[in-house]
Amino acid sequence: MKEKMFISLVLLMMALSSKAQTVTVHADKPGDVIPKEIYGQFAEHLGTCIYGGLWVGKDSDIPNQDGYRTDVLNALKELKVPVLRWPGGCFADEYHWMDGIGPKEKRPKMVNNNWGGTIEDNSFGTHEFFNLCELLGAEPYLSGNVGSGTVEELAKWVEYITSDGDSPMANLRRQNGREKSWNLKYLGVGNESWGCGGSMRPEYYADLFRRYSTYCRNYDGHHLFKIASGASDYDYNWTKVLMQNAGGNMAGLSLHYYTVPGWSGSKGSATNFTKDQYYWTIGKCREIEDVLKKHIEIMDEKDPKNRVALLLDEWGTWWDEEPGTVRGHLFQQNSMRDAIVASTSLDIFHKYTRRLKMCNIAQIVNVLQSMILTKGDKMVLTPTYYVFKQYNVHQNATYIPVDVECDMMEIKGANRKFDAKLPLVSATASKDKNGVCHISLTNVSVDKEQTVTVNLEGIKAAKATGTILCTANIDDLNTFDNPDKVKETAFKAVSVKNGQMKVKLPKNSVVTLELK
Ligand code: AHR
Repeated sequence: MKEKMFISLVLLMMALSSKAQTVTVHADKPGDVIPKEIYGQFAEHLGTCIYGGLWVGKDSDIPNQDGYRTDVLNALKELKVPVLRWPGGCFADEYHWMDGIGPKEKRPKMVNNNWGGTIEDNSFGTHEFFNLCELLGAEPYLSGNVGSGTVEELAKWVEYITSDGDSPMANLRRQNGREKSWNLKYLGVGNESWGCGGSMRPEYYADLFRRYSTYCRNYDGHHLFKIASGASDYDYNWTKVLMQNAGGNMAGLSLHYYTVPGWSGSKGSATNFTKDQYYWTIGKCREIEDVLKKHIEIMDEKDPKNRVALLLDEWGTWWDEEPGTVRGHLFQQNSMRDAIVASTSLDIFHKYTRRLKMCNIAQIVNVLQSMILTKGDKMVLTPTYYVFKQYNVHQNATYIPVDVECDMMEIKGANRKFDAKLPLVSATASKDKNGVCHISLTNVSVDKEQTVTVNLEGIKAAKATGTILCTANIDDLNTFDNPDKVKETAFKAVSVKNGQMKVKLPKNSVVTLELK
């Protein structure tokens, strides 16, 4: 009896010491529309992203539609990919587009110097990329070569893609089998011009941006959205100089931020990590919020009318390559830890869409934090894929501000510049054009189920339905032998009553609910 009373007392004390997990959604105070482009993707000529991942060629034994893998194509259609960035990355500044058009047997080869010295045969070029975007219903985002290409080369590429007149480049395109121009809005003028894109100083690059972009013309009703190559992480000076010297010439400025333990030495295993390393990773991914705020602050100062968009056109986790894979191909596995990085990051991005207009996770297939992994004719959907699938209800929906009050976790480990306290619940919400509200909740904890009370301010609902992505262990993942270990299932542990929703979130879980 005494023992029972003692246990009850301990449980009571534990309950008191643990804060209630409360999320308040303010549908009565709607925010900005979440552009669908926040869910953008990135495909670089790197490792097996293009060759083997997206493209196998028409003669392959792997089932394909005009050379594109059928399995990958179908899986990507489910994600509603809004925009696809190509051909790099670092590759873009060594890419010469004319090598990738015309009869395949005549296309010259090149060495992919950035990525393992692999021989690139240029069989996937402009036509193959733009046709893929049409198949996926995605906006193309072209990354132009400034580092090693000429102004003329970039200007002609734009003419080749978008001119409908009797122009030399439009006629060349016609000769190569495409009568009509393709849709092209987003044009990146260089990539990482401070590094692999030419090792430039911001003042010099700002002038080059002005020069190159001058000659990228708007043909026949097309209107280019010209994007300047932006900073990496904490390089606020780059943003400042670019906004100062070329802000008036650009429609957008990019930014790259990776969840990576550091750039020198090992980046850590994608599959084998400790709890402390996991919490450190989530802290690092959350640090993007502070980085975004600081870049936005500079942009607000230089562009108070909010004309220039910020585009986070590379983000995601970056781990050591999988043992046994080709060095320089950046093939990494993807666990539930990566899924939590994805949901937490997207929750943050939703808050900054006044300025932040596009994000492109790196990368779509077989590279870094990918949606899909392939090996021969096998395909695996990663935990990150399922987060993008759950979250696509937020595309083009109106953001609903959210307050989260929850337990915090102390982050341990080296290299930590960010806040030591990590919230164990992450959340976001939106209202779509039909007036339907969706709420996404992540339980960041690896040990504790958490019951979250969601206060539904400004929402009338009687019930909620949705799906859950959840694993027993944070390092659980899908492999070619066991491809369905982590996948979304129907979620039942939710009830709605008197303007409140109660949600029981298992450890390591991401839930998206529709209110009815
Ligand atoms: O996404 C991989 C590489 O990371 C890109 O090519 C480059 O832009 C960045 O450094």
